Amino acid sequence: MRAGYGAIVGLSAAAAVVASVIGWFVSAGPAGNADPAANAPASARALKPVAAFQGIDDKTERAVALFAEAGRVIQHPRCVNCHPPGNRPAQGEDSHPHQPMVVRGEDGLGAVAMRCTTCHGPANFDPGEVPGHPQWHVAPVEMAWLGKSLGEICEQIKDPKRNGGKSMDELVHHMAEDSLVGWGWKPGKGREPAPGTQKDFGALIKAWADAGAACPKS
Ligand code: HEC
Ligand code: HEC
Repeated sequence: MRAGYGAIVGLSAAAAVVASVIGWFVSAGPAGNADPAANAPASARALKPVAAFQGIDDKTERAVALFAEAGRVIQHPRCVNCHPPGNRPAQGEDSHPHQPMVVRGEDGLGAVAMRCTTCHGPANFDPGEVPGHPQWHVAPVEMAWLGKSLGEICEQIKDPKRNGGKSMDELVHHMAEDSLVGWGWKPGKGREPAPGTQKDFGALIKAWADAGAACPKS
C-alpha cells in the first residue's frame, strides 16, 4: 500500500517535489506492490547456526561449508546491489540497473548533479520505499560482487588490495558490526531482508576465519 501525496503534508515544498519524483520512479519500477519479505517462509529466511558445521572434521571442508552458508547473505540482492561491477548500482530482487541512471562519481556518492543523498536520506523512507542510511554510497569497483561467483568474492574479500586494506579481524568485525552492512536486515518496506540476522552472519564469518578461511572453488 503506497501512501498518497496527502501523506507528505508537513514536508517542505522542495522535499515534496523530491518525494513525488521518487514516488514516480518507484511506481514505474518493476517491483510491483507485493512485499517480498511477507512471502518468504521462515525456514528459507534463517541461517544455519555455526554448531551445525561442527561435525565436519576436515577444517578446510568446514570453512568452505561455513562460507557457503554466509554466501546466502553475501550474494543476496541487499548486498550485491550496492557492490556492482559497473558504474551504476542495482535495485530490486532481480538486481536490475538503478533507475534513474546514477553513477559512482569520484567518491561513490554520485555525480555532482545527482548525489545519492538527493534521494537517499539517513534512514529508510517507507512511504516512498526509498532505502536510506547516513553512509549511503556505492562500494568501490574493486569490491564488486554482483555477477561474481562466491569463490571469486571469497578470494577478493581476503585480499587487502581489494577489501579496503582490511586484516582478517577487521573484515570479520566489518561483517558483524558495520551498520551499513546491517541495513541489509532492515531494508525498509518493499524489500526482502538478507537471511538470518547480522549476528548469525557475523558468527558464521568468524567461524570461517577461525577454520582457516578456505574459499569455495571459483
Ligand atoms: C548502500 C550501499 C551498500 C550496501 C547496501 C552494502 N554495502 Fe558493503 N560496502 C559499501 C561501501 C561503500 C563499502 C566500502 C566502504 C567501507 O568500507 O565502509 C563497502 C564495503 C564492504 C566490505 C569490505 C570490503 C570488501 O568488499 O571486502 C564488506 C565485507 C561489505 N561491504 C559487506 C557487505 C554486506 C555483507 C552487505 C549486505 C548485508 C553489504 N556490504 C551491503 C556499500 C554497501
Ligand atoms: C533520483 C533519486 C535517486 C538517486 C540520485 C539515487 N537513488 Fe538509489 N534509489 C532510489 C529509489 C527511489 C530507490 C528505490 C527503488 C527500488 O528499489 O526499486 C533506490 C534504490 C537504490 C538501491 C537498491 C537497494 C536494494 O537493495 O534494493 C541501491 C543499491 C541504491 N539505490 C544506490 C544508490 C547510490 C549508491 C546512489 C548514488 C550513487 C543512488 N542510489 C542515487 C532513488 C535514487
